Amino acid sequence: MMTTEIVRPDIQSLRRAAEIIKGGGLVAMPTETVYGLAGNAYDPDACGKIFVAKGRPQDNPLIIHVSNLDMLYKSVKYVPELALRLAERFWSGPLTMIFKKDSIVPDATSGGLDTVAVRMPDNEAALNLIELCGFPLAAPSANLSGSPSPTSAGHVYEDLCGRIPMIIDGGECRTGVESTVICFTDDDTAIKILRPGAVTAEMLAEYADVTLDGNVFKKPDENERVLSPGMKYKHYSPKTEIIIVETDNAQALAEFLNEKAGEKICAVLYGDETGINVPRIDYGVTAEQRAHNLFAALRETDGLGVKTAYVRCPEKTGLGTAVYNRLLRAAAFRVVKI
Ligand code: TXA
Ligand code: MG
Repeated sequence: MMTTEIVRPDIQSLRRAAEIIKGGGLVAMPTETVYGLAGNAYDPDACGKIFVAKGRPQDNPLIIHVSNLDMLYKSVKYVPELALRLAERFWSGPLTMIFKKDSIVPDATSGGLDTVAVRMPDNEAALNLIELCGFPLAAPSANLSGSPSPTSAGHVYEDLCGRIPMIIDGGECRTGVESTVICFTDDDTAIKILRPGAVTAEMLAEYADVTLDGNVFKKPDENERVLSPGMKYKHYSPKTEIIIVETDNAQALAEFLNEKAGEKICAVLYGDETGINVPRIDYGVTAEQRAHNLFAALRETDGLGVKTAYVRCPEKTGLGTAVYNRLLRAAAFRVVKI
């Protein structure tokens, strides 16, 4: 067990963090989406340590984080014109694009694929840290594999205390759900969304034809070769059993929950519901609030000593698509319609 230090994102601490990473070690860093567990993307041993610290399956590839376009060009075979236009519009920001990888990116980073996922995070501490290192940082979400992604330094500490030397505390993540992951199809003019995020299908549709990968809202079939390996694992789950409740009828929702009052349950609701007699956590009335609060709310259910948490289904458009996609996996696809 090593000691895990939590530091402020000042320049002295960022320099120390860069030294740890240059020496082959790992540091948890804030981004605008969720906290990332960062190591040298070009160093197979560093990436190996990321998989061990998280308990992550080796075939689930890592996203590499760049602070300028030179790092992108150095890491990939070629950059389609469409990708460049998207980078101009959405970087730095929560858009991850998949490219054919250059051999400088080791198989350990790409999970053995011949492609690599790249994004430029919109967070000053993260960008400064990458600049200080001088190479891209591979960074999956800084949680134990399977548990809800961390949106505060405290969440990272809960999961990775004793497994990593340093956490840079940049406060609560602004967005709260991970970046949108896209790939380009055939002729590089069409986009497929593999994981929805804050750069929405509606926003991307201004640039090209957009399709949602079939697995965004369903469980991949047994033995299916999925485009985004992360989609096939159980994900984002607290210890509490999560069940989604889908309804537009607040009265029916209250009756459904109140019937279970006295059982070991709680409810995760929007916040505007009244007459509910079970312990509750509110995660917001807008899609932005729900994205921001979802993972923290899922973690909070574990503190209530309940067996089951019924979570009110978010809207399924815009940013709500991302919230719903994460929640479905947290609930292992259990949905009750009332
Ligand atoms: O917002 C984010 O993207 C955060 C922050 C830290 O930047 N990172 C993150 O990383 O969510 P991670 O490792 O938890 O999720 C990466 C996702 C996985 O679903 C993985 O399967 C997919 O991206 N992915 C990575 N490389 C890929 C590739 N070459 N082809 C297809 N999918 C890929
Ligand atoms: Mg993750």
